[in-house]
Amino acid sequence: MTILSASTPIAMLIVSVILVSSRSNSESLVCPAGYPEQGIPIDDGDIDLLQFAENLEHLEAEYFLWGALGYGLDRVAPQLVMGGPPPIGVQKANLDPITTNIIQEFGLQEVAHLRALKTTVGGFPRPLMDLGAMNFAKLMDSAFGYELEPAFDPYRDSLSYMIGSYVVPYVGLVSYVGTNPNLVGYVTKRLLSGLLGVEAGQDAVIREYLYQRAAEVVHPYNHTVAEFTVRISALRNRLAACGIKDEGLVVPSSLGAENRTETNVLSADYNSLSYSRTPPEILRTVYATGDEHVPGGFFPHGGNGKIARAFIRELNKP
Ligand SMILES: [Fe+2]
Repeated sequence: MTILSASTPIAMLIVSVILVSSRSNSESLVCPAGYPEQGIPIDDGDIDLLQFAENLEHLEAEYFLWGALGYGLDRVAPQLVMGGPPPIGVQKANLDPITTNIIQEFGLQEVAHLRALKTTVGGFPRPLMDLGAMNFAKLMDSAFGYELEPAFDPYRDSLSYMIGSYVVPYVGLVSYVGTNPNLVGYVTKRLLSGLLGVEAGQDAVIREYLYQRAAEVVHPYNHTVAEFTVRISALRNRLAACGIKDEGLVVPSSLGAENRTETNVLSADYNSLSYSRTPPEILRTVYATGDEHVPGGFFPHGGNGKIARAFIRELNKP
């Protein structure tokens, strides 16, 4: 039996014929966007809802770009910054080659997400963000209920960075699920579903990466990877104050899929559907104050856009 390798002339010919025929097929096909014939492309109310997401996309973009490349949006896509201040304390992480590749891809995806959002619904300047190791350390101390010694540093190594990453896309994911029922326009719905798909994918990659190491002790602490995720999820539930909408990598079976497993690679509800959060819940979490009116945490001056600013103005009312 003769096996054709890709380099033989016959194999090359077959590949070329397939490529040419598939190209001419696709050129002859009509590929509509699949939008409804009637309906509104972008409703006025959609604009604020999707602009709200730009806060989280900015956070992800800077954390991932800096972590993998050692520089952020100011260098990769300065037009998306719109004059906003540079993030505090963000830095290149000490990552192995595979983790670098994953995180670089995530970072570039966030650039594209910001571009898609700002092009479709307009944007605002990058909000001030604190991505310093100290800020992550504070978050981990709150999660564990005591001061970790030495302070947690997401930039220390690949595993620490992925634990830091566990904090980020999940918030975007549940926020997009929460935004979905409030959108009217078909263009904005299409944008949201595309963002949600990739956000959920990033979250799944991070969780699977950590699940493979669930029983590993995170150096130099006495806590396993699974424990870190359980503690971070519990902290977010406390801050958001709306019940359980966030689950670590290991759960009591009452929270597992069909109440039959303690393995929890993906965080989901009773029907194995993604949890949903509202803007106030998101702000309570990312501010780390448990109050959408009181900025802090990743956004020392608060988020930008009408929704986030309205809460801060509410607080400042006489
Ligand atoms: Fe994103």
